[in-house]
Amino acid sequence: MAASMGISSCLVLLCIVSPLLLAGAVRGHPWAGRGGGGLFPQFYDHSCPQAKELVRSIVAKAVARETRMAASLLRLHFHDCFVKGCDASVLLDNSSSIVSEKGSNPNKNSIRGFEVVDEIKAALEAACPGTVSCADILALAARDSTVLVGGPNWDVPLGRRDSLGASIQGSNNDIPAPNNTLPTIITKFRRQGLDLADVVALSGGHTIGMSRCTSFRQRLYNQTGNGMADATLDVSYAAHLRQGCPLSGGDGNLFPLDVVSPSKFDNFYFKNILAGKGLLSSDEVLLTKSAETAALVRAYAADVNLFFQHFAQSMVKMGNISPLTEAQGEIRKNCRRLNSNHY
Ligand code: HEM
Ligand SMILES: *[C@@H]1O[C@H](CO)[C@@H](O)[C@H](O)[C@H]1NC(C)=O
Ligand SMILES: *[C@@H]1O[C@H](CO)[C@@H](O)[C@H](O)[C@H]1NC(C)=O
Ligand SMILES: *[C@@H]1O[C@H](CO)[C@@H](O)[C@H](O)[C@H]1NC(C)=O
Repeated sequence: MAASMGISSCLVLLCIVSPLLLAGAVRGHPWAGRGGGGLFPQFYDHSCPQAKELVRSIVAKAVARETRMAASLLRLHFHDCFVKGCDASVLLDNSSSIVSEKGSNPNKNSIRGFEVVDEIKAALEAACPGTVSCADILALAARDSTVLVGGPNWDVPLGRRDSLGASIQGSNNDIPAPNNTLPTIITKFRRQGLDLADVVALSGGHTIGMSRCTSFRQRLYNQTGNGMADATLDVSYAAHLRQGCPLSGGDGNLFPLDVVSPSKFDNFYFKNILAGKGLLSSDEVLLTKSAETAALVRAYAADVNLFFQHFAQSMVKMGNISPLTEAQGEIRKNCRRLNSNHY
């Protein structure tokens, strides 16, 4: 369907716009590749036919070792894409020319999975040197992780290149915080070309993985500055959380984002929200602060297939945020540093 539409629209439009389109694609005009144009799932089919299977097998091994790694790899792609686009900027370590995004508020003591990415990159460099970007590794690993823990499958558009820099400011400002208001969260998604439906579907990523106490403590003790817990929290769930997340100390204590089935990709995240058992404030506000997002929460809680379908679509959309293509960026040999940086 998509392919035949592509061909017919090509036939109609080709003679009119082809010189402009081709020039943009070949020379990497600033607008070429924006919004995901230029990425396609078969990108490595000739240059590195084993790429997808290599990524899948190493992710599978890592998730078999530790189920949570599926969650960590999914989140890594999100934190990459929201900062300067899906360009592997999140993977760069500190160096003379780079202030690593790993030190930002959302990432510090929290983001993980870098060793798995290193292992994938090493295998790909051995099989097809200088060919598969770190940004594409993150996109594939996010999809493979989702599938491995029971979530939906989708074709991952490929062909991203890796950034020549990082942005700690972008990481601090552009990634939503768990105590952001719903309007702020929606604004941060809109800035990336993602809409309200994407906010709800992608928040469903919290059906797997863990959060530290520090990310939700405010809800348990002093949500609005009046010394009271968040009124939207189920009372017994709040009491349970306070046991492992004291008013002071225990910042790093871990709790499942989905209290029912933290290692399975399903729709319990949405069912929990309906029961006042969303862990983060940013989860619960999807139900309590907008009728439109609340309707989606209810729809996904009622129909896991609808959630899966929308999650897959929104993941492709998120993966298309401002990719570097053609003459921009590079294919890093080591995902942690620029090719020009030899230490
Ligand atoms: C809507 C705005 C979002 C906010 C405010 C948010 C916030 C957070 C926070 C605070 C944590 C816990 C971090 C910690 O305490 O160490 C977390 C974990 C996580 N987030 Fe989000 N997130 C959002 C959207 C997303 C999206 C779009 C995805 C992916 C599609 C995602 C996937 C995850 C996963 C899988 C984890 C668990 C990671 C692990 O266990 O290592 N989140 N998020
Ligand atoms: C990177 O360096 C900065 C300043 O030199 C430091 O504050 C930060 O913690 C470092 N980041 C990491 C991830 O080590
Ligand atoms: C959100 O949390 C951060 C970090 O804990 C805190 O500094 C900030 O004051 C909180 N914002 C609001 C509006 O509560
Ligand atoms: C709750 O927050 C308010 C405003 O930030 C602060 O003045 C008050 O001391 C806090 N109360 C507790 C019990 O932490």
